[in-house]
Amino acid sequence: MTHHRSAWRNRWTFMLATAGSAIGLGNIWKLPYMIGVNGGSAFVLVFIASIFFVGIPLMMTEILLGRRAQKNPLDGIESLALEAKASRHWRYLGGMGMLTGLLILSFYSVIGGWVLSFISTAANGNFVGISGEQSTENFNQLLASPFTLLFWHTVFMVMTMGVVARGVNSGLEKANNILIPALFAILLILLGYSMSVGDMQSAYQFMFSPDFSKITPVAVLSALGHAFFSLSLGMGAVMVYGSYLQRDVSIARASIYIALADTMLGLVIGLAIYALVFANQLTPNAGPGLIFQTLPIAFGQMPGGTLIATLFFILVAFAAWTSAISLVEPTIAWVVENTDISRKTATTTLGLIIWVLGISVVLSFNEWQNVKIVFGLNIFETLDKLTSTILLPLGGLLIAIFAGYFMKQDHVQEELNLPHRSFKIWMCMNNIIAPIGIGAVFLYLLNIIQ
Ligand code: PHE
Repeated sequence: MTHHRSAWRNRWTFMLATAGSAIGLGNIWKLPYMIGVNGGSAFVLVFIASIFFVGIPLMMTEILLGRRAQKNPLDGIESLALEAKASRHWRYLGGMGMLTGLLILSFYSVIGGWVLSFISTAANGNFVGISGEQSTENFNQLLASPFTLLFWHTVFMVMTMGVVARGVNSGLEKANNILIPALFAILLILLGYSMSVGDMQSAYQFMFSPDFSKITPVAVLSALGHAFFSLSLGMGAVMVYGSYLQRDVSIARASIYIALADTMLGLVIGLAIYALVFANQLTPNAGPGLIFQTLPIAFGQMPGGTLIATLFFILVAFAAWTSAISLVEPTIAWVVENTDISRKTATTTLGLIIWVLGISVVLSFNEWQNVKIVFGLNIFETLDKLTSTILLPLGGLLIAIFAGYFMKQDHVQEELNLPHRSFKIWMCMNNIIAPIGIGAVFLYLLNIIQ
């Protein structure tokens, strides 16, 4: 069966779409609170190292696999395996990635819902003059109301599936062109404000003065896992975007730009937030509610804060939206390329499944707060840890091994098209550093569990 495959209009739309996938709640919501929970600078250091030594090379690997295969991840890996005379079972790696994407979206959408609800709270002027306690109270109230959370989770899912149903070319590409730069601009305003009223020195010290004694196995694992999450790696999202990519784009350059933009953005917002945390005597380890509790205080004090806050949460919602889309695209591409099911029907069905799973996440913030699944983690925490610290790095490890040890070097080089030296560097990172790094972290993890 041959199906028409869409393609990016030009290299910029690919870059922006992939950056759109990478930049999302991972940067704005997750990275800041993970820095706090994991003790600050040690975590930041390992995170940055993971981005450079594992993230960038693996982003190149995923794009090259996608572009060579020109198919969804499952069939794509299968045809690459056949080309390399390796076992076709490698295809399950694609399947694992799809499942990972669906699991992530089930909680991602609930958090996306928090952001949507904060747009209306901000627009109503509810942040004006708000104190630290009031802000925390507001947020806790939101978490305590399952119906409100469910409502916004539903809106977020409808928004996401609405775009996915239309395919990659319409709307999404154009939206990205404006929104990502706008998000950067508003973050700079926030940073400027934080610099003037916040405690930037403490924030800087907390995030960047390396304290090696704080590098614990758990911090390393979380930092590595978050590098995957933040760059959308290890589950086929980047691969499927790469499969819509024309041949004339430099994969290495695109990967470096995207990873740099993604990392910078996360660190800038981290600084802005911690400057406020320290100036307002809040605790850095507030967990997932961190930005929802700290930022309203800042917005409430700055001139024009209501407008800036509203804009900010709108942009965060867009950033989350463009990431959410990429979480389901691998699965949808697979269904559409293999069956006669229409894109619309596939999207609706899949959306419903994820929405239902998301309900359990909603409840894990209130009614089912004390329902523990494993290791004392509730449903949200289990899904988060399972995907970020296990499934994504595992997917990344297998992708690296597949490209590095099973595919023909000539084929890889044909896609990467790098000068000899740079190709060797990529090979060293993909074949040796990344697998050993991820493998070592997994061994640590096994140790902790026992
Ligand atoms: N990278 C996205 C973020 O930082 C999340 C994501 C993970 C998207 C995995 C796709 C795949 O928000």
